[in-house]
Amino acid sequence: MRTSQPQTIYLKDYEVPPFLVDHTDLRFELFEDGARVHSTLSMRRNPESAAGQPLELDGDSLELESVALDGQALSDGDYEATPASLRIDSVPDQFSLSVVTWIRPQDNTRLEGLYKSSGMFCTQCEAEGFRCITYYPDRPDVMARFRTRIEADQSRYPVLLSNGNDVERGELDDGRHYAVWEDPFPKPSYLFALVAGDLVEKKDQFTTVSGREIDLRMYVEPRNAEKCDHALVSLKKAMRWDEEVYGREYDLDIFMIVAVDDFNMGAMENKGLNIFNSSCVLASPDTATDMAFQRIESIVAHEYFHNWSGNRVTCRDWFQLSLKEGFTVFRDTQFSSDMGSPTVKRIEDASLLRTAQFAEDGGPMAHPVRPDSYMEISNFYTLTVYEKGCEVVRMIHTLLGPEQFRAGSDLYFERHDGQAVTTDDFVRAMEDASGRDLSQFRLWYEQAGTPRLTVEDEYDDAQGTYRLTIHQSVPATPGQPEKQPQHIPFAVGLIGEQGKALPLRLSADEDENDAPTQRVLELTGDSHTFTFHGLQARPVPSLLQGFSAPVRVDYPWTRDQLMFLMSHDPDGFNRWDASQRLASDVIESLMHQPKDVRTDRRLLTAYRHLLADRSLDQALVARMLQLPTVAALIEQSETADVQAIHEARRRVLTELAVELRDDLVACYRRNQESGEYRLEPEDIARRALKNTALAWLLHVKDEEGRMLAVKQFEGATNMTDRASALRALVNSDFEGDRQQALDRFYGQFKEDPQVVEQWFAIQASSPNAGSLAHVEALLEHEAFDWKNPNKIRSVVGAFAGQNLSRFHAKDGSGYRFLAKRILALDETNPQIAARLVSPLTRWRKFKNVYSEGMKSALETLRDKPDLSKDVYEVVHKSLK
Ligand code: ARG
Ligand code: ZN
Repeated sequence: MRTSQPQTIYLKDYEVPPFLVDHTDLRFELFEDGARVHSTLSMRRNPESAAGQPLELDGDSLELESVALDGQALSDGDYEATPASLRIDSVPDQFSLSVVTWIRPQDNTRLEGLYKSSGMFCTQCEAEGFRCITYYPDRPDVMARFRTRIEADQSRYPVLLSNGNDVERGELDDGRHYAVWEDPFPKPSYLFALVAGDLVEKKDQFTTVSGREIDLRMYVEPRNAEKCDHALVSLKKAMRWDEEVYGREYDLDIFMIVAVDDFNMGAMENKGLNIFNSSCVLASPDTATDMAFQRIESIVAHEYFHNWSGNRVTCRDWFQLSLKEGFTVFRDTQFSSDMGSPTVKRIEDASLLRTAQFAEDGGPMAHPVRPDSYMEISNFYTLTVYEKGCEVVRMIHTLLGPEQFRAGSDLYFERHDGQAVTTDDFVRAMEDASGRDLSQFRLWYEQAGTPRLTVEDEYDDAQGTYRLTIHQSVPATPGQPEKQPQHIPFAVGLIGEQGKALPLRLSADEDENDAPTQRVLELTGDSHTFTFHGLQARPVPSLLQGFSAPVRVDYPWTRDQLMFLMSHDPDGFNRWDASQRLASDVIESLMHQPKDVRTDRRLLTAYRHLLADRSLDQALVARMLQLPTVAALIEQSETADVQAIHEARRRVLTELAVELRDDLVACYRRNQESGEYRLEPEDIARRALKNTALAWLLHVKDEEGRMLAVKQFEGATNMTDRASALRALVNSDFEGDRQQALDRFYGQFKEDPQVVEQWFAIQASSPNAGSLAHVEALLEHEAFDWKNPNKIRSVVGAFAGQNLSRFHAKDGSGYRFLAKRILALDETNPQIAARLVSPLTRWRKFKNVYSEGMKSALETLRDKPDLSKDVYEVVHKSLK
């Protein structure tokens, strides 16, 4: 066991920083065995803070070489230094502090602070990585102007980058050189970045709305030179979009993007120097799927949008993380929606939320969008802070309407430019600009848990009225036993007999021509009743249109009603939702039936219509044809029996695929034609539909399907088609073809880490191929590397997160496997280790055969001596 319990940090204990930094001057001497960091901080006491406090700076694993105060070297007795802090009891009101530290980027496997990734130096400072570089008040409300000088060997590291503008460069002795960068915008230390390496530069240009020329530069390893175009195109789209939609112009003269292979997260918005995980920025049609292209577009935009929502206006403390992340995710979802199919984008976002975020909100790590305590902040880069945080901003947008929302955002940026603020400041700007009272709405930031809406209805034939009664309840979550009702925008429509959206008249005198067909009902109490007038017959309710709030809705739709909504709901999102509810209901009911009970024919009919319907957005059709995932079905069940869910789902899939065989072949052939690869929505939809049909055919070992898959695999002109064919073969029972395809694919792409990651993930997530033994073998593969987070995610993460029937093997072997890997990883990269604990945390959600094994895996973790703070927090909260 850990000898001491890690400290819990509370929001209520927030105090303003006792010292401020006006200027941060850094000099890095980079060597092969380490780096020397010289820092000179111009500091002063914060006038808003209590007088006489000692100076205390944060550190993490630092070796101190020297300290000087106002140019005078200090001796041992003048300060107290540990690897984790530097304390000087008496300092003047204003002073300059110079510190020299020695750090070892080469041995940095945590990938926080300064580290090496395939030969280059790079940094990741959010949230608390800067303290691994030098002693500093490493908190976001301390903002300073940075000047950074980098010195390194010229031939190994010709490119030297940091934030801001490149102001000076030159040569030094011994084949070394230097560059000096100056960032005119005061920033917190978490936005600091440095890169040194042998990189190629891709240049582009952007002219801002006011006519300023911005240099865009992308830096990658030479082998990736051909994979930059998409990111640069995405960047320019994002820059234009932010000007048009939010009135935000870029502020420096240069904007840089760097790709690195070893990265804990997706990307990082360092001022003027965004650093990306290679897998989230590099793409070419040969190596990246449509999904990857879309993900890259949204991540490039996300990081760019942070320049305003995050950098110009930043967070006061880490409890406010959603201030920048929730808002920026909202901005990137709006952007992606404008660039592609809005309905499909909404479906993707909502299904992630409903499976993964709802699971988090219902588990032991549940926390509010603005948490009020944490042990390790890295554990709070969560779906709740990001995705639910985005939904909270979206609800403000829905309640205020686009114009007032824009006015609120303008006011927010104007009022707080250059400041470190709170989510409350954000909401207040929205209130002040719109005149709306959002006091009850603020509970969305404070209360954890997913609200549940239970809807009842009543049709009065004589009066021609229809009443909807909506009850709201917010479940108890750890530390929050009692909840208050929240302010929920609930978008509804009513569909009439002919499949027409009916006018929604909330009073008898309302003119039917003026009445809208969608209304956003505002729920604020425990229950509300709304009466709609002038109806000739009982309508079918279309509830929570567009997923207008991150809540669960219970309403007893019949299967016939769901089929009706699937083909008539004007709200595309709810058409999809109806398809998922229908399929879930069918699958769930089969779980308790003998093997010879057949699938409800209505599901078959619904799918047959879908496959034939060419009037619908084909991207939506492809989505509707996907059965709910095992993860979604687990989330919907009271206590989950994974094997029973998996089996029932397979039965339905098999029966449908057999019956729909000819329709699937026809659908495949209709969408087969693949001319030159284009990233247009219609082409993406065509590929998605075709590949869905292919997967279904192979699922039932169809011979023609097999021939089509092999042909597609061999002849593919792009990675979407190639990887889809490979996945279909891997998930099939054609074992010979499977192995052959896997070998060929690896042979062809083994030099490309991003493609190898896909190759790993396709196997590890496959219930057919990805047996535990096979996954263990992948860990021994020459391309696997325990130091590379992407590889870990693509094998261990994909197995535990997506291959649920294998991971939840009843003998507990999957859980023991995961625990063993986490224990080893905890020594090298605790952040990644802690993320991998997540599949075990919801043990209470599962039937005993599973939960006992999950719990005992958690106990194994708990018993490790000197567990990292990261893993400690997740494990202990899960076992509580
Ligand atoms: N701020 C980054 C983003 O845009 C995430 C970086 C988080 N990094 C970390 N080590 N926790 O989403
Ligand atoms: Zn972000």
